[in-house]
Amino acid sequence: MASKTSSILLFSLLHVFLNLRFSVAQTAVKGSYWYSGTEFPVSNINSCLFTHLFCAFAGLDPTTYGVTISHSDSTQFSTFTRTVQQKNPSVKTLLSIGGGGANTTVFAAMASQQSRRKSFIDSRSRQRVPDLRSSNYYTLNLPVQKISNSLDWINVMSYDFYGPGWSPNFTAPPAALYNATVSQVNAAAGIRDWIRAGFPANKIVLGLPFYGYAWRLVNANNNGLFAPATGAAVSTNGDLGYNQIRSFISSNTAPTVFNATVVTDYCYSGTTWIGYDDVSSVTAKVGYAKGKGLLGYFAWNVGADYNWTLSQTAFRTWGA
Ligand SMILES: *[C@@H]1O[C@H](CO)[C@@H](O)[C@H](O)[C@H]1NC(C)=O
Ligand SMILES: *[C@@H]1O[C@H](CO)[C@@H](O)[C@H](O)[C@H]1NC(C)=O
Ligand SMILES: *[C@@H]1O[C@H](CO)[C@@H](O)[C@H](O)[C@H]1NC(C)=O
Ligand SMILES: *[C@@H]1O[C@H](CO)[C@@H](O)[C@H](O)[C@H]1NC(C)=O
Ligand SMILES: *[C@@H]1O[C@H](CO)[C@@H](O)[C@H](O)[C@H]1NC(C)=O
Repeated sequence: MASKTSSILLFSLLHVFLNLRFSVAQTAVKGSYWYSGTEFPVSNINSCLFTHLFCAFAGLDPTTYGVTISHSDSTQFSTFTRTVQQKNPSVKTLLSIGGGGANTTVFAAMASQQSRRKSFIDSRSRQRVPDLRSSNYYTLNLPVQKISNSLDWINVMSYDFYGPGWSPNFTAPPAALYNATVSQVNAAAGIRDWIRAGFPANKIVLGLPFYGYAWRLVNANNNGLFAPATGAAVSTNGDLGYNQIRSFISSNTAPTVFNATVVTDYCYSGTTWIGYDDVSSVTAKVGYAKGKGLLGYFAWNVGADYNWTLSQTAFRTWGA
């Protein structure tokens, strides 16, 4: 009797251990991209605030289909892992291939033939997957099951829903989490569509923008969401890093607003209006990601944070 009890106990313990092992294997992703274009020094990354760092971007040779790294990036890329592991020896690094400006025709050509895929894979080492971006806001027209079988996880680019470059005539939340009355483009709807299409929630990593967009208001006194605007303000296409937004707020003593219904922050001064993610939005989004059973979050990009405020907020909100 005693032995049966202990063998049941042993079995249960074994089961618990197996589950523990399994859950340990599925460690959360608290990630961020580092982008060479920002000229933010790799050695300045507070890598203790991340489990994964993406080094961006490598390219794809249109003739050989091998992975390429530009000459100006080669030193920083080759020392990236060593540098970020000085502060956090367990941080994992990933080479990100492609990016928003990548020529998708070349990626499609590479993916379409076995021999080209082999050239691509062999050109660096195995297990590297291109940063292919899909901009299906309204329909998820992708082989979800195959993606799920082949990949450890996907980064869902849940930002850039609005910006003055492509929606110039009214202010809008660049990366709302939830549905607004005027617009149904939001992160939660996108995540819901992936999960409804059969993609496992625990392989989805939610994107957080460490930047926002500035619009020029038609009327300084009409400064809410979806207010009339006339295109970009401050920078050419209106994009501003969180660090630049913080300095705009302090130098203009700009009022700031958090809209918890759609989950966005915005600030304004005179006819300048900026939509972005501050501490409140990041807290709500990371809380949502954890609550939905997603694998984690990633930020674009680490060099735009202000004094590690958003990185720390995300890290602490997710918790252990
Ligand atoms: C993309 O690459 C293809 C094949 O090399 C080339 O023909 C095309 O002009 C490129 N497109 C752009 C926008 O650079
Ligand atoms: C913005 O307004 C201008 C002027 O009324 C118009 O020509 C343009 O098509 C609008 N843009 C969009 C994206 O709706
Ligand atoms: C938040 O934004 C939505 C969409 O524009 C709006 O309907 C709502 O009134 C706003 N909430 C607050 C508290 O301002
Ligand atoms: C988004 O909000 C609009 C207006 O409140 C509503 O008609 C629509 O059903 C909502 N969409 C989703 C996906 O919740
Ligand atoms: C930066 O953050 C630290 C705490 O994380 C704080 O003590 C310090 O005052 C902050 N510095 C600035 C300039 O905000």
